[in-house]
Amino acid sequence: MQVIILPSARDVALYAADCVVDVIDARTNPVLGLATGSTPIALYKELVGRYQSKQVSFRHTTSFNLDEYIGIADSHEQSYRTFMNRHLFDAIDIIATNTHVPLAESQDAGTLKKSAQDYEASIQQAGGIDLQILGIGLNGHIGFNEPTSSFASRTRIKTLSESTVVANKRFFKDGEFQPHLALTMGIGTILDSRAVLLMATGKAKAEAVKAMIEGPLSAMCPASALQLHETATIVLDEEAASLLALKEYYQWCEQKRQQLHEGNVS
Ligand code: GLP
Repeated sequence: MQVIILPSARDVALYAADCVVDVIDARTNPVLGLATGSTPIALYKELVGRYQSKQVSFRHTTSFNLDEYIGIADSHEQSYRTFMNRHLFDAIDIIATNTHVPLAESQDAGTLKKSAQDYEASIQQAGGIDLQILGIGLNGHIGFNEPTSSFASRTRIKTLSESTVVANKRFFKDGEFQPHLALTMGIGTILDSRAVLLMATGKAKAEAVKAMIEGPLSAMCPASALQLHETATIVLDEEAASLLALKEYYQWCEQKRQQLHEGNVS
């Protein structure tokens, strides 16, 4: 794992935006894996700004989102499709049909299973994901892979944990139906991405971040599966990094990595 610790949440967003633009510049038909949640909003804002100032085009980009709530329409105010359209897709030149968010409106298990299989097949057909953006839940979940999710899991129906339902309650009106199920890429699907970049900011994420980086490889912390990925970058602000035991070491590694990049091996 490459652990990058930056002064602020804004620096985390800028760093992530640079990584996304690097992939778009390097590939003829880049494939991005995208995430929802409050953490990547600043990244998407930055990408929209760079698009508007003509620093990047998404014309040839295909995207796959991690997850979607089951049982609400795409057009629902709180669907992840609506979130992505609002924060990114409607403001850039990506071709709408090249944006994928799991189709999860159905309440029928057979239809949802087929939708999950089709999603995996679409990722394969696109040539796999070049860069998967991730956030992290308070309990260490990635996508909607809650604790005890198999590290080999693929896109499937997942029951949300109580902690996740409570954390997301603020987005739903009083008395409004709040989904307790989601269709999510599996941990195996995420690990197949050629590179992953997990963003975490704020003190509330510090425990989960510590478990992910320095804890044991454990299904109790789904994000710890990223320890198995050859090209995983974890980009943190100071608060999210505050409980790491080896914080100074990661900063030292980063200095050394930059020196090596400049050809200096001293
Ligand atoms: C949801 C999403 C995750 C996201 C998490 C944390 O559960 N399914 O992909 O990482 O929320 O969101 P936030 O960035 O708002 O803390």
